[in-house]
Amino acid sequence: MQLSSIAQKDIRSNLHPYTNHIAHQQTGPKTYVRGEGIYIWDEHDNKFIEGLAGLWCTSLGFSEQRLADAAKRQLETLPYNHSFAGRTAPVVTELADRLISIAPKPMSKAYFVTSGSEAVDSAVKIAWYYNNALNRPEKKKIISRVRGYHGVTIACTSLTAIPVIQDAFDAPLDRFKQIGTPHYYRFSEPGETEEEFASRRAAELEELILAEGPDTIAALIAEPLMGAGGVIPPPKTYFEKIQKVLRKYDILFIADEVINGFGRTGNPWGCDTFNIDQPDMITVAKQLSSAYIPIGATLISEEIFQVIAEASNRLGVWGTGFTYSGHPVGAAVAIETLDIYEERNIMGHVREVMQPFQSRLRELNSHPLVGEARGAGLIGAIELVENKETKQPYDPDMKVALQVYQKCLENGLILRALPSGDSVGICPPLIITESQVHDLFDALGKALDQVWNEIQPVSISTAIA
Ligand SMILES: Cc1ncc(COP(=O)(O)O)c(C=O)c1O
Repeated sequence: MQLSSIAQKDIRSNLHPYTNHIAHQQTGPKTYVRGEGIYIWDEHDNKFIEGLAGLWCTSLGFSEQRLADAAKRQLETLPYNHSFAGRTAPVVTELADRLISIAPKPMSKAYFVTSGSEAVDSAVKIAWYYNNALNRPEKKKIISRVRGYHGVTIACTSLTAIPVIQDAFDAPLDRFKQIGTPHYYRFSEPGETEEEFASRRAAELEELILAEGPDTIAALIAEPLMGAGGVIPPPKTYFEKIQKVLRKYDILFIADEVINGFGRTGNPWGCDTFNIDQPDMITVAKQLSSAYIPIGATLISEEIFQVIAEASNRLGVWGTGFTYSGHPVGAAVAIETLDIYEERNIMGHVREVMQPFQSRLRELNSHPLVGEARGAGLIGAIELVENKETKQPYDPDMKVALQVYQKCLENGLILRALPSGDSVGICPPLIITESQVHDLFDALGKALDQVWNEIQPVSISTAIA
């Protein structure tokens, strides 16, 4: 196959994240050149529904002029400013105030970063600083859940408990511990109710805390609905029980809203949908700016603020910060995004289209390839199994989820084969219309039928987050 000149440059120079580099050298990149609404076009002018909103992020689609204008205005006014030593730009202060006012639970301050990973990494640092300030130097371990996805800095890789992401990078580091995935379909025992399963997971958390020593555990981090690890909503009563254990041992709760936040699960926040009532920190990114520009934030409670403020006074400074913390262009685009969410009642729109979305999703439960179709709001996944009765997965070498992903592409739909288990993620821009929801599921249904009819091993080896 003759590679285009851009493809030749790409394989010469571009090291892609989450890519099999040898396969990429042979096939070259998939190159997309423009977008409009929920659609994007490749270099050959083929049109696709972006059924994963990029990486769960382009909530307002690919052609929102107001976001481009907001960036341009700010670039022409004050293209850069930083937040060190109390410096700010009006848009940054505005955005902090706005985020605190819409946070799902009382939060005190917003600390700006430029990605979800930086938001999570900062939450870990804050938890450590907090416990040092309280003279609890041993209370530093962070607990995450197997299959949780929290990003890829060294601390985040230690939290993201997915083998292909951790093993070859020497993760997790010592201070990071894991508990089981709250996935009822896959891990419940025969006859166990969702509530009983949730109690078992909470009991496992307590056992781990007691085994490690409560005085050594700083925080637990959890996505309200797990995203990249398989789109897994928690079992009923799960977070009520988990939070009770955390409170008992004075352990902080970090709610990772990087995918869930800003309407994805059918409510403004995943905390609302899944009954998380006392997060101490909340991490956000992605839909905060509809991903038009990199920006994220770590929101912290008043109690944490008071403790770290006092320590910063004692030490002379809170010794952390990024060059791009409080970048005014990111803040301007984020404010415009939040304005659009409000003015166009995007939340109301999500609540309407999530009905057909969830009902078309659930219909896939009857497809012979699908073991479980699950989700909430405008996010879902299908888990593919060889035997629906026993839930037996396919041989991993068959890469069935990747086969479905590829058939979807042939049918004009971009979804994502998730890096853990044979699941395919579905997470369209929030602006998707009802008839586009049907187009999406028609294409997915066709792809599933095609894979079912010709199911065979493939040699491609790529895992995509
Ligand atoms: C829940 C969650 N947290 C953190 C991250 C990391 O965000 P980023 O890729 O912007 O660093 C992601 C990315 O998908 C995520 O889904």
